[in-house]
Amino acid sequence: MSKTATLVINGEKYDFPVVEGTENEIAIDIKTLRTSTGGVTTLDPGYKNTGSCESAITFLNGEKGILRYRGYAIEELAEKADFLEVAYLLIFGELPDAEELAKFHSDIKEHSHVDEDVKKILDGFPKSAHPMGVLSSLTSALIAFNPSSVNVDSPEEMYLAIVRMMGKFPVLTAWAHRKRAGLPLDYGDNTLGYVDNFLKMMFKKPDGEYNSNPILVEALDKLLILHADHEQNCSTSTVRIVGSSHAGLFASLSAGISALWGPLHGGANQAVIEMLEAIKEDGGDTKKYMAKAKDKSDPFRLMGFGHRVYKNFDPRARIIKASADDVLQDLGIDDPVLDIAKGLEREALEDSYFVNRKLYPNVDFYSGIIYRAMGIPVEMFTAMFALGRLPGWIAQWREMRLRKEPIGRPRQIYIGETHRPFKDIEYR
Ligand code: ACO
Repeated sequence: MSKTATLVINGEKYDFPVVEGTENEIAIDIKTLRTSTGGVTTLDPGYKNTGSCESAITFLNGEKGILRYRGYAIEELAEKADFLEVAYLLIFGELPDAEELAKFHSDIKEHSHVDEDVKKILDGFPKSAHPMGVLSSLTSALIAFNPSSVNVDSPEEMYLAIVRMMGKFPVLTAWAHRKRAGLPLDYGDNTLGYVDNFLKMMFKKPDGEYNSNPILVEALDKLLILHADHEQNCSTSTVRIVGSSHAGLFASLSAGISALWGPLHGGANQAVIEMLEAIKEDGGDTKKYMAKAKDKSDPFRLMGFGHRVYKNFDPRARIIKASADDVLQDLGIDDPVLDIAKGLEREALEDSYFVNRKLYPNVDFYSGIIYRAMGIPVEMFTAMFALGRLPGWIAQWREMRLRKEPIGRPRQIYIGETHRPFKDIEYR
């Protein structure tokens, strides 16, 4: 029997259907709320209690620390799959067989070329420009070079737009880095794997020399998988809402990159390493910074701690913490900020402020330490996150369009002045 929820407003009862997901999540379907009640709406700033869509891509349970892509546990994917397999899984719904994966990779390579004129646009940016601003702009600029809008009812056109973006975005990311570093812009080597090729595009010397390091390739592959999707977070919701106006894929992704940039979202990985460095420079007194984080009159927050959804632990943080240890050991790097990070985590786990508010390290608490060990500059950390999140954004955009979702347009509760007469300027 279908369930309903009853809402009583001023003594009047209204019934709404209850929707149940495949993991038994329950939601009250309020699509008819305004029409049936004569204009009553809901108020939920930050959408903490609002389901914006039905989605079959990623499941997460913040209380139990579960994260699955298309039903597969993140722990298993991080251990057994590579990034391109996960990208295919997220976007198309199933793990590819060997032939499908080979074709996907080959199509991505074929469409990885970025028009030479894009280099001129990049040239116009100052070297000091933040890579996220550069990437958002260049992703948007790609529209001008690939103007045909995607007919979402054509699987071929949709596929083409996807492989184009999967191919070109790593090039733009590497170029954003090389521009900052004063290195010539170029392509990698399409005989290499997707991640290895990206590292080559990032780090190859002007004479072409690049030594592939399997430890780095594996570590980055894992990081990208862990960042690949996270259901309706700030940047993903942005991608879906921009796309809901039928703006194209590239325009929607450009907006998603901007949303990811903020320090409360993807920008946290840069903020974490800057915070850990500052603590180190200040003598490594973690207790002092714990006290600052708890002091409500101090704006300081422990970056990399807390999560809107995970209230027990972030499963990605566990995998990354172990990976950080392995990578640093394999590379023979002794990074004192790793000890500071572990010290902060230890103290927070025993501190009632953090325990009561269910604040635990999130995915970004340890990722920056690995990026740094790889030689990736701090300013590029959030761009690395964007590279990982790309297939998730694409999958969510594709799902939103295929489900023919309506344009995203929230309501508000107006709290401004009521109607008042206009005052001529001399009376103001
Ligand atoms: N340090 C100190 N206190 C914190 C922190 C923190 N990192 N995070 C939350 N709190 C406190 C808040 O001050 C608040 O305290 P109060 O109840 O006494 O007012 C309480 O915990 C709840 O915090 P909210 O901000 O309401 O939680 P919300 O779910 O809105 O925010 C967020 C989650 C944005 C991630 C927050 O925890 C934060 O700012 N963390 C630091 C930034 C960060 O690491 N962001 C990356 C998130 S992961 C990602 O985007 C990939």
